[in-house]
Amino acid sequence: MNTMSFGRKLLMLGFACIMWKCVSGCENGRSDNSEHCTDADECEDPVNVCGKHAECINTAGSFFCKCLNGFVHSKGMENFTVVDGQCVDVNECRQDKEICGQFSTCTNMIGNYSCTCNLGFVLTNSSDSNCVDIDECNVAESKNELICGQKGTCVNTPGSYWCKCAEGYTSYGIERTPCSELKCESFSGARRPAKSLGGLEGILAMMRNSCLALSNPSASGEGNAEGEALLEKLLTATDSILSPGPLDHSEGVSGLLGTVEKSILLIGPQLKRNTTRIESSETDAQIAVRRGKTLPTGPLHLSNENATLSTDWSTAAGTGPYPGFALAALLSYKNLEGSVNRSFEELKQDRNDSASFQIFSKVVSVVVSNPSTHSLKHHVNITFRHLQDMKESPELSYICAYWNEKGAWSTDGCHQQYSNATHTVCTCTHLSSFAVLMALYPMEPNFGLLVVTKIGLIISLLCLILSILTFKFCRSIQGTRNTIHLHLCICLFVADLIFLVGISQTKPEGGCRFVAAMLHFSFLGVFHWMLLEGVQLYRMVVLVFNATIRPLYLYVTGYGAPLAIVIISALIRPNGYGTEHHCWLSQSDGLIWSFFGPVCFIIVLNVFFFIITVWKLAQKFTSLNPDLSKLHKIKAFTVTAIAQMCVLGLMWVFGAFLFQSGLTAVEYIFTILNSLQGALVFFMHCLLSKQVREEYAHFLSCVCTPQKKRYSDFSSTNPSSSQSQGTRSGQHTGESQI
Ligand SMILES: *[C@@H]1O[C@H](CO)[C@@H](O)[C@H](O)[C@H]1NC(C)=O
Ligand SMILES: *[C@@H]1O[C@H](CO)[C@@H](O)[C@H](O)[C@H]1NC(C)=O
Ligand SMILES: *[C@@H]1O[C@H](CO)[C@@H](O)[C@H](O)[C@H]1NC(C)=O
Ligand SMILES: *[C@@H]1O[C@H](CO)[C@@H](O)[C@H](O)[C@H]1NC(C)=O
Ligand SMILES: *[C@@H]1O[C@H](CO)[C@@H](O)[C@H](O)[C@H]1NC(C)=O
Ligand SMILES: *[C@@H]1O[C@H](CO)[C@@H](O)[C@H](O)[C@H]1NC(C)=O
Ligand SMILES: *[C@@H]1O[C@H](CO)[C@@H](O)[C@H](O)[C@H]1NC(C)=O
Ligand SMILES: *[C@@H]1O[C@H](CO)[C@@H](O)[C@H](O)[C@H]1NC(C)=O
Ligand SMILES: *[C@@H]1O[C@H](CO)[C@@H](O)[C@H](O)[C@H]1NC(C)=O
Repeated sequence: MNTMSFGRKLLMLGFACIMWKCVSGCENGRSDNSEHCTDADECEDPVNVCGKHAECINTAGSFFCKCLNGFVHSKGMENFTVVDGQCVDVNECRQDKEICGQFSTCTNMIGNYSCTCNLGFVLTNSSDSNCVDIDECNVAESKNELICGQKGTCVNTPGSYWCKCAEGYTSYGIERTPCSELKCESFSGARRPAKSLGGLEGILAMMRNSCLALSNPSASGEGNAEGEALLEKLLTATDSILSPGPLDHSEGVSGLLGTVEKSILLIGPQLKRNTTRIESSETDAQIAVRRGKTLPTGPLHLSNENATLSTDWSTAAGTGPYPGFALAALLSYKNLEGSVNRSFEELKQDRNDSASFQIFSKVVSVVVSNPSTHSLKHHVNITFRHLQDMKESPELSYICAYWNEKGAWSTDGCHQQYSNATHTVCTCTHLSSFAVLMALYPMEPNFGLLVVTKIGLIISLLCLILSILTFKFCRSIQGTRNTIHLHLCICLFVADLIFLVGISQTKPEGGCRFVAAMLHFSFLGVFHWMLLEGVQLYRMVVLVFNATIRPLYLYVTGYGAPLAIVIISALIRPNGYGTEHHCWLSQSDGLIWSFFGPVCFIIVLNVFFFIITVWKLAQKFTSLNPDLSKLHKIKAFTVTAIAQMCVLGLMWVFGAFLFQSGLTAVEYIFTILNSLQGALVFFMHCLLSKQVREEYAHFLSCVCTPQKKRYSDFSSTNPSSSQSQGTRSGQHTGESQI
């Protein structure tokens, strides 16, 4: 035997062996009871062989797979050998609704399920899954009072219990709610203010009936109270009271607000949902309710477009015996501002009398179940949106106020915490109906300015007396201009005196009106005489008339025109004289223009006269032989003229700036110039005038060195003076007279 044939034999043997092995199938699972094969365990790796959730069952020479309990094959096969499809969980709860029994809840799990007893049921025997009702009433037998309150009787029901309440008590038709007292008599509308408001009676009757039905023991426990429907009825009834327009009884408003608050307290517990929001044409109500055995805690926020309430549940529920529920409500009235835009007296007492108030947010009522809302443990924050955006200003402040039972605004226990242009945050220690008010303070008179004005006016008055005496008795300067000066000073004196004494005497209204009219008249007089000054200056310098104007014309212009204006104004706008803060013309109804109109006209005319005069004078002096003394005179004239215009008219231009506050320097200049007007007149027209100075000197020397013939001396100077005046006026320059 050669090696080659041996090798071939071996190969053939091997092949035969492999072939046999393949046929016997001991390894690849084909069953064959051949004695050469031992049974191989095909189920060594069941997940690989059968897939998840399946068991692998080994048989002699073979195997099959089967889904585990609680699983079924997705293709419905019971026994399978190839992984085709998979074993999926059986939802026992869906398959068998009764699997856990009537009072238990089934929960499916992967491969299994579990049963939990419903609320109010309990598993008494762990070996079966039957849940039985808990008899809460008996469990808590010793604590019946705890579970249903003092006036309640516990009634067990499958899975729950009711509290049957004594008359006058209710559990609001809600299971597991203890009985609390109902005060239905608070809905009896016997109070007078309620009567003054038509429609309020209807709400009260409706709520009283609802309250009585609740407190009726036979009805209690049936659970068919319709809180939502009642709330809607309440808001509809409120709308019908408010929609016709603003209410004009403050007490009526209080009655309405109070009734709605009480009604919400009655309705709230009957509401099914945790938070309810109902909007009607006049109101927007949001009510949040929490129920449960324990006091709710945590933050509580209710908000609508115009207001936000921030508090916490423990504040809303209060510290008293817990009635089994807590509620908080935010009620926003959409159009109540007009009805409560008054009754600010109490606020005025705390603040300056001169302050004025205005409603600046929607009126909002906050209701909580806490019975003692008069001093809450924690403050409640309410954020209000302003009715209009308002920039911060020292003249205004925001006030958080509530509308009290007496029908007036009050601020006790409520204060403003923060404000920006659009919102104000209020912090209150009690609850009712709130709003943000805006307090407007009249511009606080600047103290410095006040002192300057007073001192200036007093100096002015003294100087005006001297000026008047001078113009009256100084014979050397008599003439038309002097007459104008005199009456200008008289008008200014009267105006300043009345201003000093009477401008803020607003108290007797008639007196104030009279003062305002007198001020109007005398200041108009000042300006008209100023106009005459301008006219006379023009006549003298430009037209070169030095003829006197007939005094009658002067008086008609200087006094008659102002008087006519005042009379016409008083006839047209009798109420425009005297404002709340000053005895002056009212700015709001346009009466002020009966002053500013003529004043502006006169100022414009005087500016014109002034410019023409200066121009003509300049021309005149250039044509003349320029000599130094004349130049000096021109200077003197110009300075005097400018001073005169400044003092007598142009400074009122500064007054225009007063309307824009903030220009303090301008205010000071205006005030100083104005109040020292008299002093300046005295300085310009008496002290700077040579003739007058001479007369003063003469007069003083007469007084100091007593002479018998003082008066004759005084008058003896007159002829020469008037003569000199006459000669100078003959030169047609006019400058000497200024
Ligand atoms: C599945 O196998 C079991 C034995 O393990 C047998 O009793 C049953 O009849 C088989 N079912 C089917 C559908 O073949
Ligand atoms: C299935 O749940 C029952 C009780 O509900 C329990 O006895 C059993 O052991 C659970 N089976 C599995 C596989 O978890
Ligand atoms: C629990 O139920 C089983 C069967 O339903 C019963 O045999 C057993 O006595 C019960 N045990 C108790 C404590 O009731
Ligand atoms: C009401 O609130 C309670 C808890 O305060 C909560 O368990 C319940 O699911 C809420 N109900 C609704 C209808 O939102
Ligand atoms: C109210 O506001 C104050 C200050 O912002 C804050 O400290 C307080 O916690 C707020 N109260 C509530 C209940 O939000
Ligand atoms: C909020 O204010 C706006 C504008 O004043 C008003 O139109 C709206 O009705 C108000 N909403 C509520 C809920 O008060
Ligand atoms: C309140 O009345 C004043 C005048 O009395 C008025 O100017 C203001 O607009 C009113 N405000 C509201 C909100 O009605
Ligand atoms: C009220 O007037 C007094 C002076 O009479 C002043 O000191 C005070 O600041 C004013 N109060 C307010 C709130 O403006
Ligand atoms: C004003 O304050 C409110 C409330 O605090 C806030 O929501 C709002 O953004 C503020 N507005 C401005 C312009 O700061």
